[in-house]
Amino acid sequence: MNQAALHRLMTSKRWKKSENSPEDLFQLRLSTNLSLISSLFFSLYPKEKNELFFYQLLNRMEELFSNRSKELKSLDLERLQDGNWYQSERLVGMQLYVDRFNKNIKGLYEKLPYFDELGVNFLHLMPITTRPSGENDGGYAVNSYYEIDSKYGTKKEFSAFTKQARKENMVLMLDFVVNHTSDEFEWAKKAKGGDEKYQNYYYTYPDRQIPDAFEKTMPEIFPESAPGSFTYNKEMGKWVMTCFNTYQWDLNYTNPEVFIEMLANLVRLANMGVDVIRFDALAFLWKKIGTDSQNLPEAHHLISLFRMCLQVIAPGVILLAEAIVAPRNIIKYFGEGPLKGNECEVAYNASLMALLWNSIATKKTSLLHKSLLEIPSKPVDGSWINYIRCHDDIGLGYDDDFIRAIGWSPSEHRSFLLDYYSRGLEWSPAKGLMFMYNPKNGDGRITGSAASLLGLEEALEQKDIRKIDQAISKILMLHGIILSYGGIPLIYAGDEFGTLNDYSFTKDSDHKNDSRWVNRPMQDWKTIEKLPTTENHTSQIFKGLKKMIQLRKKLSVFADKQPAIIHPSPNEHVFLFERTDGKSKVWVISNFDEAPQFLEVGWLFSIGISFGREPKDLITKKELLLDEGRLKLNPYQHMWVALD
Ligand code: GLC
Repeated sequence: MNQAALHRLMTSKRWKKSENSPEDLFQLRLSTNLSLISSLFFSLYPKEKNELFFYQLLNRMEELFSNRSKELKSLDLERLQDGNWYQSERLVGMQLYVDRFNKNIKGLYEKLPYFDELGVNFLHLMPITTRPSGENDGGYAVNSYYEIDSKYGTKKEFSAFTKQARKENMVLMLDFVVNHTSDEFEWAKKAKGGDEKYQNYYYTYPDRQIPDAFEKTMPEIFPESAPGSFTYNKEMGKWVMTCFNTYQWDLNYTNPEVFIEMLANLVRLANMGVDVIRFDALAFLWKKIGTDSQNLPEAHHLISLFRMCLQVIAPGVILLAEAIVAPRNIIKYFGEGPLKGNECEVAYNASLMALLWNSIATKKTSLLHKSLLEIPSKPVDGSWINYIRCHDDIGLGYDDDFIRAIGWSPSEHRSFLLDYYSRGLEWSPAKGLMFMYNPKNGDGRITGSAASLLGLEEALEQKDIRKIDQAISKILMLHGIILSYGGIPLIYAGDEFGTLNDYSFTKDSDHKNDSRWVNRPMQDWKTIEKLPTTENHTSQIFKGLKKMIQLRKKLSVFADKQPAIIHPSPNEHVFLFERTDGKSKVWVISNFDEAPQFLEVGWLFSIGISFGREPKDLITKKELLLDEGRLKLNPYQHMWVALD
């Protein structure tokens, strides 16, 4: 049973019961979730030894609820009454680094009109809390979960920002770096000082015996810059687990105290006025010798336990799963079996993202179709974050069986994609970099901005107008897909006007070992100022995107109530899906080829596009015309088709 549905029921205006106070409702939510909370807790922490911790947890939850502000408590209830608000077609998101966007929180506040102009009303702010001063993985090495780093501003400024943002109906998402802290976090400092209690908050070992056993089956995340999964800490005289960078210490969730303390940190973050919490790197939360220590059943229990407790304390706050894992594993973060609907409400659609990049390189949509049709669908109450680029690399997370099924070799195919995007393949227009190439197995990932990966950088260098136009079409086509697919589209700041790669990271000693910084540019306000008056690639992209955003918000078929219906087209270059709200329909058609492509009118009729009913492209407002009984699609053309 989806617990959120029960909480919604309890706040429904249709239930004519006497008014409950927020405290009564807290108690009601607690009783509703208690059986799940206890079974999840004791599945991770056996009852014989941990009963006391369970009572500690319950007391902590009451305390955390009482610390939540009145204003947020009433917002929680409003959100519950709104139902699945996160599935609305009216949401359009942007992800940004506050300092790179406009210096600091104050600067961000000043730019609220910019979001409004573009139609963005959902913001993912990258970490803004304190972090080590040198390398810090873009803030994903946290010194605190709620103290704002002075380079961004003060708590007061942040609170002024959230208040104003809320007034303007802006939804706010922040990260909860749940898997690890920095090596400067207060617990890490105490551990280094010899405090055993805090050494047990992490996976620490006096010798290599257990680390060696773990490393036999644990894949390396950053093989170039941080090989292995353990780091020796001299001060402590012990090895500590560090799956990511050497300065990011993995939290030991086999210790129930860690869970209780981290729940408190999660609520403190939510109390900053956050609507969506991005559960960072959540696939890694539970480690077990002999496994790859990713996506383990215990990790799912732990996430659901966080979810069930947070739902009692702050029921308006939802969770986003940052699980950049194999397609079949991503789906599991919505919750499976008894946990269905009780894990994360939203997940990154990393599969769609990676498949779109595959279709750009191959100019074919066969792998895209096969994967989308065969991956089990998400639950109806869940939703996606759809994106083409973010601050991270593009991992080639395809299902090998699907690659084989269409007749390609998985390793050769991945190697081709690395050549196409980051090894300068001769005919490829893409300009990207390699990320974390592992010569031991040939694995690698791709970095680069959307525009550079889609050929705009090369086209501008060559001053080739045809290529520039093609790159613009590709940029708009991919954004058109994420705006219409179903879920919250998340635009990466800078992509809205085709920002190119930023190579300056190679000169920065804290960034030069991490090529993801090539796609973390400073927001270029000079160019933005000129957008209304210039006619070039930047303004074409911005205007094209803005138009689609405005249109998306008017089309109820784009709310994520019913999933996209994929129609595998007989033309292997064309991607076609249908969206419906039960009443009207829109067909989204994209040509992934650099040559014109055609669709037979008979086939279009078979999927409902009847030319007798004057089909129209809603983006250009033009009627669809036939060319000798076929619909012609120009290179990289993208349409939202509706019937009269
Ligand atoms: C997530 C973040 C990434 C970071 C990693 C470790 O994957 O998106 O940027 O390096 O977690 O925190």
